[in-house]
Amino acid sequence: MIETEFEGAFSGRLSGTRRSFIRGVAAAGASTALATTLQKAGGLDLFLETAEAAEPTHFSQFSAIAASGADAFQVPDGFRADVVIAYGDKFADDRGNEFTYGHQNDYLAFFPLGDGASEGILFVNHEYTSPFYLHGYKANDPAGKSRAEIDQERSTIGNSILHVRRNAEGIWKPVSPSRYNRRIYAGVVAGQPAAPASTFRVTGPLAADPQIGPLVDGTLGNCSGGTTPWGTAISCEENFDGYGSQPLPSPLDFVYGWADPTNDGFPGYPEYNPDVPYRTDGTPGLRKYGWVCEHDPYDPDFVPRKHTALGRFRHENTSFRHVPGKPFVIYMGDDGNNDCIYKFVSDREFIPGNRAHNLGILESGTLYVARWEPEGRRRFTTSGDVEPTTAESGTGTWVAIPVAGLSDTRNYLEPDPANRTSTTTDYGLHYATNRPEDVEVGPGGELYIALTNNTTTGINDAYGSLRKLVEAENDPTAASFVWTEYAAGGPTDRGGVGFDAPDNLVFDSQGNVWVVTDISTSVIGTGVHAFHANNATFMVPTRGPNAGVAFRFANMPIQSEGTGPYFTPDESTLFINVQHPGEQAGVATSTAVFGDPTTYPSYWPRGNKTTGQSPAEPLPSTVAITRVRPGQSPGSPVIPPPAGARDRTRPRIALLSPRRQSLARFRTSGIRFRIQVDEPVRLRVTVSGRLTSRRRRRRAGGAARGKLRRFDRRTIDVRRAGTVTVRLRPRAALRLLLRRERDLPGLLSVRAVDRAGNRSTRTKTLLFK
Ligand code: FEO
Ligand code: CA
Ligand code: CA
Repeated sequence: MIETEFEGAFSGRLSGTRRSFIRGVAAAGASTALATTLQKAGGLDLFLETAEAAEPTHFSQFSAIAASGADAFQVPDGFRADVVIAYGDKFADDRGNEFTYGHQNDYLAFFPLGDGASEGILFVNHEYTSPFYLHGYKANDPAGKSRAEIDQERSTIGNSILHVRRNAEGIWKPVSPSRYNRRIYAGVVAGQPAAPASTFRVTGPLAADPQIGPLVDGTLGNCSGGTTPWGTAISCEENFDGYGSQPLPSPLDFVYGWADPTNDGFPGYPEYNPDVPYRTDGTPGLRKYGWVCEHDPYDPDFVPRKHTALGRFRHENTSFRHVPGKPFVIYMGDDGNNDCIYKFVSDREFIPGNRAHNLGILESGTLYVARWEPEGRRRFTTSGDVEPTTAESGTGTWVAIPVAGLSDTRNYLEPDPANRTSTTTDYGLHYATNRPEDVEVGPGGELYIALTNNTTTGINDAYGSLRKLVEAENDPTAASFVWTEYAAGGPTDRGGVGFDAPDNLVFDSQGNVWVVTDISTSVIGTGVHAFHANNATFMVPTRGPNAGVAFRFANMPIQSEGTGPYFTPDESTLFINVQHPGEQAGVATSTAVFGDPTTYPSYWPRGNKTTGQSPAEPLPSTVAITRVRPGQSPGSPVIPPPAGARDRTRPRIALLSPRRQSLARFRTSGIRFRIQVDEPVRLRVTVSGRLTSRRRRRRAGGAARGKLRRFDRRTIDVRRAGTVTVRLRPRAALRLLLRRERDLPGLLSVRAVDRAGNRSTRTKTLLFK
């Protein structure tokens, strides 16, 4: 019965014009011509228009930018982007250890210190490394690697925990040395403390399994992750099966070969060989990697954990849901073509303030896999189609996975790869999805799933989608759910929303979902992906007039992907990692020559390949995006703003108030008005006006105007973007004056000014009756 209710709600939305709730804007391939076309077609023209969220945040009002193929990190007019730290930068703890920021940063989370507006700790995953940029190794290089080269690779992945702070100009910088600073590696790396830095404790039902625990040296493949409400960071080991002696099954054919006996005089590290069936030679390996890991960025001595209760697969990320009185729930995706969506229901509830209890939440519970009806995948006739041939909504159930399925979950569900790809098997129809990247719980408890794409023959999904899953009775522990496609990837002129290959997601406080894209480097800017150009970041409001519309907010440099978007608590800063700029240098067919930066596909962030400026090694980097402050340049020179961007340095201050109110009411209860700002600011609010006495007016034949008087002045700290309500009551002297003049018309104006002299765009005038 309950399910039917939910189904009804969705059918209501889906009835009428097909996919009428998904609207495209001219944020893709954006040109005036395209915008005009859309306008003529009755679509929305939001290029260079203000994006309207339900309520504004620092970031929600911007002019959508055009697609770009340039070697630059581009943000809208009025914003700036600064590299906080890049691969190779040094930072230190307070015990004399110096660290190097790792390669290929993916997930990041910000842990506040104080209120977090200007200081905090970044938790960052270094998912993988690019051997070419380290020592010139190209994919499928038959020469193999030396031990030193493998150790160099091992030292560039894992995690960084980095103390950061805004300087006087508002620019985020690393704090070093700091007690919080820490690096965690792929294993014991020469010259670094072995414990507790990179040693993990295994928890859960398989902790004592000798193939896994009880301790593991290091971590690898950490893609995205999550946070917990008890203040820990989650990182997810994704492509754990590409580091041993087998090639990584990715389009780039990287062969890490850390356990490869054909390496240069070095038999390798056997612990990186994952167990069968990931190995094609049939010899047993270990199951040390492929887990969900938990870290405490606030405690430099915390021994990180690998939680076996959450299963072992190519973990992308986690997103939790806490409903008081219900067990704690975490959603997860397995990032592979035709892989699955999971839900972990803990045996425990989250108890705010009870840290010892909460740290056990991920150690015991039940793992479930989503079973989809009528089918889990979106299938298309031809790659590049936007209209699927399969259903765009349906129902589903959560199927429990026993302990026996935890250590190799995907293969437990279906060991035969052909059956996973098939469109007729039970697995292929009801468990397989179009490669889940991030899953993220939305403001109403619904789950958004980035199904990034799935180019398997017969599936033909080039662009991916955002899917929405709602639990029965909106209960996170429910056994069933309903689902619908929320936003379809693809070009706007063909019915897509303008993004292509959605990957990481993050919600802001007003329910806008921020989507970064991950079009594979090998196809960026080509064929059916040409419309999108470089990878980008979009904002998609989930409510209000623009719900479901994708606005392009940022463009990434050449051959890179934006990862790990994360807001500070006051949402004045959006951190984004730039991963794999210039990625194709390492493929076997690349003409890039190690040591000759002019041959590299990207020079970002120290140069710009497009303009030929400063050839340099492209560096995976962590970027902070903020609003431009008065007097600042609109961006750091190595991250050029989009062409034609104006230097608009003013924060927006708007006054909202009733236009008319009685003088009598003003005298007795004062006035209430709302001030809307787009960043935290200290405002001086002045109320002034002219009141003209009857006597003066009579003398001047009705034309007299009273002297301009300042009635009140207040300082108001607006702590976050949005609106504050301000109430001003006249003091005694003013009340007396007003009583005397009470039958006279008057004008009152309110103006807000910040410390830098920025004024509200218009003074608000109240006309008294
Ligand atoms: Fe590392 Fe799922 O992307
Ligand atoms: Ca990802
Ligand atoms: Ca990715």
